[in-house]
Amino acid sequence: MTDVTQVNEKISIETQGDIALIIIDNPPVNATGQVVRQGLQDAITKLNDEGTAKVIAIYAEGRTFVAGADITEFGKPPQPPALPDVYNVIEDSEIPVISVMHGTALGGGFELGLATHARIGIKGLRVGLPEILLGLLPGAGGTQRLPRLAGIPFTLDMALSGRQVKAEEALEKGVIDRLVDATPREAALQAAQDVLDGKLATRRTCDVDVEADDKALEDTAAMLKAKQAHLYSPHKIVEAVAASALPRTEGLKIERQAFVDSMQTPQRAGLIHAFFGERAVSGIPEAKGDTREIAKIGVIGGGTMGSGIATSCLLAGIPVRLVEVAQDGLDRGVATITKNLEGAVSRGKMSADQKDTALKMLEPSLGLDVLSDVDLVIEAVFEQMDVKKDIFGKLNTVCKPGAILASNTSYLDVNEIAACTDRPQDVLGLHFFSPAHVMRLLEIVQGAKTAPDVIATGFALAKKLKKVGVLAQVCDGFIGNRILAHYSKTASYLVLDGASPQQVDDALEGFGFAMGPHKVGDLAGLDIGWMTRKRKAATRDPNERYAGDVADKICENGWFGRKAGQGYYIYGQGAPVPNPEVAKIIDDVRAEKGITPRAFSDEEIVERYMTAMIVEATRVVEDGTAKRPVDVDMVFLFGYGFPRFRGGPLHYADTIGAKDLVARITEYAKEDANYWQVPPLLQKMADEGTTFADLNKGA
Ligand code: CAA
Repeated sequence: MTDVTQVNEKISIETQGDIALIIIDNPPVNATGQVVRQGLQDAITKLNDEGTAKVIAIYAEGRTFVAGADITEFGKPPQPPALPDVYNVIEDSEIPVISVMHGTALGGGFELGLATHARIGIKGLRVGLPEILLGLLPGAGGTQRLPRLAGIPFTLDMALSGRQVKAEEALEKGVIDRLVDATPREAALQAAQDVLDGKLATRRTCDVDVEADDKALEDTAAMLKAKQAHLYSPHKIVEAVAASALPRTEGLKIERQAFVDSMQTPQRAGLIHAFFGERAVSGIPEAKGDTREIAKIGVIGGGTMGSGIATSCLLAGIPVRLVEVAQDGLDRGVATITKNLEGAVSRGKMSADQKDTALKMLEPSLGLDVLSDVDLVIEAVFEQMDVKKDIFGKLNTVCKPGAILASNTSYLDVNEIAACTDRPQDVLGLHFFSPAHVMRLLEIVQGAKTAPDVIATGFALAKKLKKVGVLAQVCDGFIGNRILAHYSKTASYLVLDGASPQQVDDALEGFGFAMGPHKVGDLAGLDIGWMTRKRKAATRDPNERYAGDVADKICENGWFGRKAGQGYYIYGQGAPVPNPEVAKIIDDVRAEKGITPRAFSDEEIVERYMTAMIVEATRVVEDGTAKRPVDVDMVFLFGYGFPRFRGGPLHYADTIGAKDLVARITEYAKEDANYWQVPPLLQKMADEGTTFADLNKGA
């Protein structure tokens, strides 16, 4: 006879003879919010008090087993019962408890499994400890119980990488006891019966001894000290895993304290902002609603950008027609795409067979006429308005009605491009970032006449390509490049006024950027900025302090950066070294301009650079180019190597506060009142004591 008890709104118990099923039902991902925690604790306690069931099996409804603690509760006052206490109740249960995990058992979800007396995985299961990606560490016994099941090195690997481990590997490592192909409910009933029949052994994880491995702990601690000194939680993970040698209560106490301490850090706040921000950018009404079908994509241009975009589409399983004007360009494009896909194979992203299938979906063609049957065209040719206008005029006649016409322009006016067609409603900007098959950002640029279903299709495409789509309005450079154009001048001013390019790079790398701005310039090619400066020379504000003197002179020597063997740095064997010729150029420019160089501390470099970024980012929000501060933040995290643990420029701005930022800008304005101006929105925030987070909430 089946008997169902609703413990609370998220947890129910179903008894069938000697078997009790505890069923978790908390969509979308069964996170262990307060109601789930309370329900689990009450269910285990009730079943033990009653003493009628001989075995308990826990499973979850919906798309996944528990995917972790409820992240929305982080940063708020904790509500009892605490997750580690609930899991101790489960582990201490007199009645054996088994867990059946499907989907993604992550963080607190995986830890729930670890606290049970045996674990069943459903085919396709992935387990993981992703807390590190949120600036945290496993806080519900993961650092104590996983070493008992799978050893210290594997625990360190999982907890420090945050990677999702496939079920097969989890089985091999002894993390799960069985892997079955069944529904969670079927598997729970079967496994419970097997426990009753003595066919599935159960044991308390805390009763298993940890195999000591001091070397793994010491080596890892040393590696983290060298490479991740600026991060908080990785070091705490090692400390907590080391404590797994202690009895359960003591080890859990150390883990708990480390978890609570990590929760207080700005890194945790930044990383959780990034987690929700990544999802929030597509949570807007413009991203929803009707979309157009995209079964085939045309990409115009076989250069680095076009080939990267084509690769990205092929990786997502979308057939691509690649168009070039001449055979050699087309051949180069195909070669680049093939190389990109081979790279994906060597990185384990796809198999060799999948690569061959992807290449079969590529149709290289000459001339635009072949684009008559595609659903979306992405133009990725030179950044020249007349070339783009010519192409869009032709696409207007060639493409079928309803086809979406996109430009990958990084700066140009999408409305002007759209005006070359008699279907501006079908035109938008799809701005990819190089390398386009790797970088996750996609700016979706809305023209004045772009139809709503075209924008929604842009977001659907971003999702299909596994990219983060962010809505931007038309302006010079959209969100990212417009802000970049402004703050990169600060890097040049710092060098003119006394810092060396290397000091600027080192200071910003110390802040967390993967590469300083001069190294980025060398990598991208200094000729790109040089061309832009020349293009804009005629329209430059005469009151603006020119920032390009040093870079212009470097380019006049043909030192375009990495591809030329030298730029700000010299590239040979080993690490790049600062270019001594550049130091001479800097000295000459300073002398020419009558600048007496002064010393800058690393702190001042970071402050000036970040303040300039925040200033333009504020303006971008103020004039509506970006819908909300969080959109700017995600552009920088996914397109510009901004340190994720700092959450993005405007999340970071909140850690300084509008008032202090206004004070800084006012101080800097004493030297250059044209460049350093307080944006009215920032002034208003300073006056009213509000934050960018408030603007996110309000939008
Ligand atoms: N808490 C609260 N909400 C969560 C959540 C969590 N742990 N995980 C996902 N969600 C929400 C998302 O915000 C999203 O909400 P919206 O639909 O409102 O945007 C919804 O669930 C669906 O998530 P995704 O869009 O990400 O769905 P997906 O299918 O692409 O991915 C997933 C599913 C793999 C579980 C992914 O959401 C994910 O990685 N989640 C985070 C997992 C995690 O970090 N767990 C550890 C938490 S910390 C912890 O557990 C500490 C501890 O030790 C006690």
